[in-house]
Amino acid sequence: MLHGKRILLIVGGGIAAYKSLGLVRLLRERGARVRAILTAAGAEFVTPLSLSVLTGDKVYGELFSLTDEAEMGHIELSRDADLLVVVPATADLLAKMAGGLAGDLATTAMLATDKPVIAVPAMNVRMWLHAATQANIETLSVRGIGFVGPVDGDMACGELGPGRMAEPADILAAVEAHFNTAAPLAGRRALVTSGPTHEPIDPVRYIANRSSGRQGYAIAAALARLGASTTLVSGPTRLADPAGVTVVHVETAREMLAACEAALPADVAVCAAAVADWRPAEAAGQKLKKSCGAAPTIALAENPDVLATLAGLGNSRPRLVIGFAAETEKIVEHAVAKRARKGCDWILANDVSEGSGTFGGADNTIHLVSAEGVEDWPCLSKDAVAERLAGCIAAALGTAA
Ligand code: CTP
Repeated sequence: MLHGKRILLIVGGGIAAYKSLGLVRLLRERGARVRAILTAAGAEFVTPLSLSVLTGDKVYGELFSLTDEAEMGHIELSRDADLLVVVPATADLLAKMAGGLAGDLATTAMLATDKPVIAVPAMNVRMWLHAATQANIETLSVRGIGFVGPVDGDMACGELGPGRMAEPADILAAVEAHFNTAAPLAGRRALVTSGPTHEPIDPVRYIANRSSGRQGYAIAAALARLGASTTLVSGPTRLADPAGVTVVHVETAREMLAACEAALPADVAVCAAAVADWRPAEAAGQKLKKSCGAAPTIALAENPDVLATLAGLGNSRPRLVIGFAAETEKIVEHAVAKRARKGCDWILANDVSEGSGTFGGADNTIHLVSAEGVEDWPCLSKDAVAERLAGCIAAALGTAA
């Protein structure tokens, strides 16, 4: 889908620069033509030769190279691109971009361009959180620069937190979304909940359920593929984060609700999480010990209902609020009642009775309950359910204003 698109990659100097090689491969597999400018610092981490082999082109690095200027001047380099991608965008490169410096080929090309720019920051957590970097990000955002990441995680410097560069698949998804303005959900914001929640009993034990999170992950990925800017709020699962989706990892129902509220506004919310209805009223501060006497009694408190809360919001209510109903009997009857009780627009009722294979399995048989009535879907894979639901959502929301 990137066939014929011309991408100018600017490779900065950071340990994450090696990921730019994987990105080149993904972009070219989808038909894009990729040219690369390698900064002097970038060349400390990846070689011009590897970039040249993967792009199938020469690699540009020198501002005052007589041969480069004769073949392709620095102005021409940025003009001859549909999109500039800065990967990794180091703190230094971001500062130079914000300040309009043009001391080398990379910064000169960025200052000279009138083409859209996507920056993929990567740096130490403290450098990312520093007021100077945050001010530069603010300046560049206002100027229309797009950002992918950074994400939270372990970093090469041994620290943990925001600053880690997004993965090539996520950068690719952002590039595709940039060109895919005709996508039916382009300009829309989607919020999806998924997975179980873990409700702590003490520091080592918790109450949970068997939800795999697969259906919600598939829905988030399908909405993102249709162009929606998608946030997935996920309880603990074994699944990899879907490409092109902002994932917020939470543990408890209360954290899930807070993360959903923080992700608003949204045009559509799909609550696919198997939220624990109850939590231990008080989680013990220390591990409960057998030596303390008789088996403890765990008093339970009711958890907030994320779906009902989102459906009951006033002005900030997503236009379309969708829930699931996991039922073991009288499936449609219970789903109709649940839709009314929760105040949502659609309920996707599914059979989770023993033997249905839904929990942790690959397939789902859905009955879509809405104000218009009940639509019975055939038995579909969870991916196919997600595709079909995303299509229904796109049809219901219409084209973005
Ligand atoms: N849900 C939620 N927050 C909760 C409980 C449920 O957001 N605390 C959402 C689920 O994500 C799902 C829908 O509500 O979209 C229905 O979940 P389900 O477990 O079937 O219903 P319950 O509300 O738990 O009702 P019951 O257990 O009585 O069937």
